[in-house]
Amino acid sequence: MNINTLQTLGYVTIEYPPALRRLVHNAVRSWERFCLDLPLETKLRFSRHDRVKDFGYMLRDASTGSADNKELFHVRLCDLPKLLDLARGIIQPEALHYIVAANDLLKGIEAFIREFVQAVECKYGLVGFEKLVMESQQTWIFRFLHYFGSEVLAARHVDRGGFTLHLFESQGGGEYLDSNKQWRPWTVDENSTIIFPGLALQQYSRCLLRALEHRVVATPSTVVDGRFAMVAFFDFPHSHRFDDTRFRTQDFAEGQVYDMGPRELDRYFVRRLESAAEW
Ligand SMILES: [Fe+2]
Repeated sequence: MNINTLQTLGYVTIEYPPALRRLVHNAVRSWERFCLDLPLETKLRFSRHDRVKDFGYMLRDASTGSADNKELFHVRLCDLPKLLDLARGIIQPEALHYIVAANDLLKGIEAFIREFVQAVECKYGLVGFEKLVMESQQTWIFRFLHYFGSEVLAARHVDRGGFTLHLFESQGGGEYLDSNKQWRPWTVDENSTIIFPGLALQQYSRCLLRALEHRVVATPSTVVDGRFAMVAFFDFPHSHRFDDTRFRTQDFAEGQVYDMGPRELDRYFVRRLESAAEW
């Protein structure tokens, strides 16, 4: 697996193996049907109704007091037995189709992720990286998104965790801040995924790799048609974590993390006390 541009460009585009491409497409198509064909009360059966412990289906719009205008669904391997149980109790087939497709994707992507983390560990000398990521497989978060259509999609930010996959985007509008601090569009291609580091990997790699600043801007067509997307977050329980009790990544100035050295970045992290089992 060629990951050369991870350091030079800040992200890497990797073509899906055919079997994985089918799993991604199935998951996206069934998410679209879930969103468009099911009534809200059915979707809400997958919600924990708890904004802190996000789980399953979430609606973020004016009716929920949110400035966002979207619906999303979080799937983790550890939640799948419960989600499958819920879906089997729902008459409309779109619910079970979606959960089964998500289940197949989460299980089917393991080898692809392992190959990526092996390549990163080897190329950048990050001893133990593969083991840490693969041991956290039960809590990898797959986020399915449906923006209803509005001016605001995702404001500029860096992701806090290890690394992020942008698995699918139905429309353009995704942009990243390059090393010269210019915003550039990234190419939407349904046959490949974009992978980039988050803050935890920047800290773990002692700034060899940098968290990529990115955003999603509205386009004339997303304002009207909305936007479907699927992303996945891969965190790993290494010795430190971003201290979200004291800091918010949204408060970083544009491009600030690109200029940080390891010692400065460490100020935003605290030693992890909890055990990996709590992840
Ligand atoms: Fe992000």
